[in-house]
Amino acid sequence: MHTMPAAVYKNYGPPEVVQLMEVPKPIPKENQVLVQVYASTVNRTDAGFRSANYFISRFWTGLFRPKHQILGCEFAGVISDIGKDVTNFSKGDKVFGFNDKTCGGHGAYLTMDASDALSTIPGNLSFEEAAALTEGSHYALVNIRAAMVEPGQNVLVNGATGAIGSAAVQLLKHFGAVVTAVCNTKNINLVKSLGADEVIDYQTQDFTQTNTRFHFVFDAVGKSTFKKCKPLLTKKGIYISTELGKNAENVFLAMTTPLWRGKRVLFPIPTINREDVDFIKDLAEKGIFKPVIDKTYKLEQIIEAYRYVETGQKTGNVVLKIGGK
Ligand SMILES: NC(=O)c1ccc[n+]([C@@H]2O[C@H](COP(=O)([O-])OP(=O)(O)OC[C@H]3O[C@@H](n4cnc5c(N)ncnc54)[C@H](OP(=O)(O)O)[C@@H]3O)[C@@H](O)[C@H]2O)c1
Repeated sequence: MHTMPAAVYKNYGPPEVVQLMEVPKPIPKENQVLVQVYASTVNRTDAGFRSANYFISRFWTGLFRPKHQILGCEFAGVISDIGKDVTNFSKGDKVFGFNDKTCGGHGAYLTMDASDALSTIPGNLSFEEAAALTEGSHYALVNIRAAMVEPGQNVLVNGATGAIGSAAVQLLKHFGAVVTAVCNTKNINLVKSLGADEVIDYQTQDFTQTNTRFHFVFDAVGKSTFKKCKPLLTKKGIYISTELGKNAENVFLAMTTPLWRGKRVLFPIPTINREDVDFIKDLAEKGIFKPVIDKTYKLEQIIEAYRYVETGQKTGNVVLKIGGK
């Protein structure tokens, strides 16, 4: 039996539940590709699944213990084998993708269905950059699409330096929005370089006191409330937070506020498919979207990487180097 190194979690809990070990190398089914992983990320999705702090996540990952014990929902690498029915990829293709069903990016090899959220890496991107293309950006994309942002509309992004926020600023600019970004003093220049038209430094200014009115307030870091942001919204403005809020109030508000036909809360369920990955790839190829990378860790340092991610202070993405170049 062939084996491979991987970061494995057999129980939910803190970063220390993750152990490095040799596990059987996966074998692709007829419709699957086998990817040799060169880089992955350690992100808030991985951390959320691992900690199971929100019990509800266990309905996705396994009620008592994780069904799939290698996390890493985004990855980049090289196809090293394909199932007999796969026609859209070949051995040797450099690919990146997202898979939060079976994950596997924190191991040396993973398998995934060839028709899922997978595409070839744009020539201008490294494996490390390609690994960070999908997690934050697809959450951002789902929320921007739900808010139906049109060119010229004012949008505020709170937490513009997170994986989701830093992608949201770039995507919103691409869609023609006028973007006000809220961030820490140290990241003002970064956020401007992502295209933000206005920047509010949350250390010196309370963004809810601004006089601008927004079609969409996107709290990409889940630190505000609808109540606080409501005065900032235009008549039919939309508020979205990436967090459930106190007593899951954002889910409740998403069910009730649309009934009044005024200012609304939305709580879209994130999805990603092949077309979305190709869309993100196209933007990356054209230099319109570039994932922000904070730190890079080796697979052996995964616990340290999780600890850093869970400070809630990473800037953009944290990359994990697995193997290869
Ligand atoms: N449960 C899940 O499956 C899941 C999955 C993905 C995301 N999420 C949620 O989505 C949110 C965003 O995730 P992410 O990965 O994009 O975040 P992240 O990368 O962890 O980043 C958080 C960013 O927000 C900034 N920040 C912290 N406090 C802030 C504040 N009060 N105002 C403005 N900015 C602030 C931090 O910068 P400074 O420290 O420099 O200010 C940091 O750059 C998180 O709340 C996360 O839990 C949940």
